[in-house]
Amino acid sequence: MRRLIAGNWKMNGILSSIEEAKAISAGVGGSLEHDVLICPPATLLHPMVNALTNSNIAFGGQDCHANFSGAHTGDISPEMLKDLGATYVIVGHSERRADHGETNAIVREKALSALKAGLTPIICIGESLEQRDAGQTMSVLKEQILGSVPEALNGNQFVIAYEPVWAIGTGKTASINDIAAAHAHIGGVLASFVENADACRLLYGGSVKPSNAAEILGTEGVHGALVGGASLKASDFLAIVSA
Ligand code: PGA
Repeated sequence: MRRLIAGNWKMNGILSSIEEAKAISAGVGGSLEHDVLICPPATLLHPMVNALTNSNIAFGGQDCHANFSGAHTGDISPEMLKDLGATYVIVGHSERRADHGETNAIVREKALSALKAGLTPIICIGESLEQRDAGQTMSVLKEQILGSVPEALNGNQFVIAYEPVWAIGTGKTASINDIAAAHAHIGGVLASFVENADACRLLYGGSVKPSNAAEILGTEGVHGALVGGASLKASDFLAIVSA
């Protein structure tokens, strides 16, 4: 399966940061072994796409509203992202779930809306430290998948990012055995209701960096990475892309 290495810039980056994206694009070059995606803040999407018109890199949003238009001050619709050149959008990131009270049902609506706009949703799931300590990781993941992934989809229409909440931005990563077990479990749950579930790419996210990327990306059932902090610096992100 073709790997997807996705950079999530979160709320980082101003116009001058487009130089970093240019460096990433130049480093990736013309022949792409893997799919490479940058999800900048929405404010940078248009100038970044314009600055990198001949690039092999794909661009995505970090969130979208479930509606295409309407009275939703401050929100961005999937159609708007698509209009600017996005092909992917992250939905249900744990920071959105925590900061904005996004439930599985909301995430599911966003994913559906993204698909309707012609975007590939990257649906994020992951257990908290409390849930992990209570031995609930697998049941939490199952509940999040069943609640957040729309029914009647084909596995090639969406991407799942498994991001243990306690591993995001902390420098801690799940062990290779735990990642493999979680990804096998996620694949099994998807297979119970998704057509062609094997085609769905399962990314790992949470403190992926140049020093651990090769091991994580080489783990059975891992088809790519969702990278936060280490995607902000071209040299780090490129090291992960080529890991
Ligand atoms: P991190 O973030 O790589 O900085 O841990 C990952 C994410 O939140 O997508």
